[in-house]
Order: sequence, then C-alpha cells, then structure tokens
Amino acid sequence: MQEAIQRSAEVMKQAHCPYSDFRVGSAVLCDDGSIFKGCNVETCNHGSICAERNAITTAISEGYRKFKAIAVCAETNTFTSPCGSCRQFIIEFGSDTAVYLKVPSRPEVLVTNIQELLPLSFTPQNLRENTHR
Ligand code: THU
Ligand code: ZN
Repeated sequence: MQEAIQRSAEVMKQAHCPYSDFRVGSAVLCDDGSIFKGCNVETCNHGSICAERNAITTAISEGYRKFKAIAVCAETNTFTSPCGSCRQFIIEFGSDTAVYLKVPSRPEVLVTNIQELLPLSFTPQNLRENTHR
C-alpha cells in the first residue's frame, strides 16, 4: 500500500487543473497487487474528471475489477477526501475498499474505508434485491 500512496503523490504532479489550480492524484491497488494511477483533468467549460475516477476507469480499462484500496493525495494541509461522485464510483466495485488519504506536508496517512465514507449507500446489491421482477 505504501507504493500506491507514493504513486498517488507522484501522479498528482500530472494534474491538468488550470482553472482550480487544485492538484489531486490517486492510485488504486488491485487484488493482485497491480496499481493504476490517475490525476484530475479539467476543461474550460468547467468540467472535470476527478483523480479517483480517472484511476479507477484506467484500472477497469485494463481488465481489473477488484480493488483492495485507493489512495488520494491533494496539495492541501488537511486531508482531502473523495467527493460524492467518487465515493459512489469506489463503492460500485466493492464495499470493503480501504481509502488512504495523503498530503505532501504530513508524514502520516489517514486510513478509512468506503463504507465509512458512504454509509447507507446505494450499491449494485440494491438492484439485485428488486422485488418487482
Ligand atoms: N477533485 C478530485 O480530483 N477528486 C475529488 O474527489 C475532489 C475534487 C478535483 C476536481 C477538480 O479538478 C478539482 O479537484 C477542484 O474541484
Ligand atoms: Zn471526485
């Protein structure tokens, strides 16, 4: 996991964020130990892709579906946590995914998990429990 945390800090430098100037990097650790990275990418119409979703979609594109953990690094002094859309994206692929928050100015890492970040969530399991069909 240390490796994923380090990679999230590295890829943060690749952020394309000319509008917010808010750099974010993320790295997902897959069940086999593979790591995929992503940074935030912004456009002039005020659109943006978050680092976390960028990392996850990259992993998905490479055929990975099971994630042990996701690391998020932002250039802040306090820990930056995934936005609501990213939380929904993380829980789509597993309710047990660990979430590691890192900032460059601090040696410690905040460790949490997606269930804690998104309690009483709507998940694929809810669709399977549809009683109408
Ligand atoms: N951002 C992320 O990359 N991840 C999050 O979950 C929170 C927000 C990015 C999107 C945008 O480029 C910038 O932070 C400011 O909102
Ligand atoms: Zn987000």
